[in-house]
Amino acid sequence: MTTIIENILTRRSIRSFKKDQISEEDLNTILMAGSYAPNGMGTQSWKFTAIQNAQTMKKVNAAIRQSLLSVPIVPETHPYIVSLIEKAKDENADFLYHAPTFIIVSNLKDNGNSMPDSALAIGNMMLAAHAFGIGSCWLNQLPGLTHMPLIRELLNDLDIPENHIVYGSFVMGYGAEEPKPAAPRKDVINIIR
Ligand SMILES: Cc1cc2nc3c(=O)[nH]c(=O)nc-3n(C[C@H](O)[C@H](O)[C@H](O)COP(=O)(O)O)c2cc1C
Repeated sequence: MTTIIENILTRRSIRSFKKDQISEEDLNTILMAGSYAPNGMGTQSWKFTAIQNAQTMKKVNAAIRQSLLSVPIVPETHPYIVSLIEKAKDENADFLYHAPTFIIVSNLKDNGNSMPDSALAIGNMMLAAHAFGIGSCWLNQLPGLTHMPLIRELLNDLDIPENHIVYGSFVMGYGAEEPKPAAPRKDVINIIR
């Protein structure tokens, strides 16, 4: 098996992290790997915002928490969202898994390629991180709340352009847990010869 295939097959989401920060060199290489992802029309219109500052992490977490608390629960609300809103009621709730590094991938609003481009970039970054023994996990809260005024204020503070929204975000760091084995793969392949 080639190294890249082994890397793809062994990456797992990590949700518990050691306090140790990843090196600047590894961070730069991971972000560069994101920037080499395929992207529609080659626009590279994404922006990768890396946060390693504890105060800024707290600010992000607080904005997520406050925004969740303002989401009304209606009968149609998905049970997962209800559980997040319930979690937000705890003032110590941490939506970033206490990770040392958080990456926000923003991209142009109202652009059909923004979502696939951003997801491909995150995939590249997660695999690059895994190659360095660094764990990661996609976090969907910020993308889900990206249109809320409090989150827009946060994005302004983080120098994320006005014409961008968040399409994906993920945490990174050295894992403090043994990840669960991959779920059995579903039978989704159809080869037509
Ligand atoms: C679009 C997307 C959204 C996700 N959102 C979350 C999330 O909000 N919180 C979380 O803990 N994991 C999240 N995940 C991670 C998935 O739960 C995980 O990738 C999946 O269970 C497969 O496990 P694996 O990554 O270990 O292979 C997300 C993954 C993707 C691709």
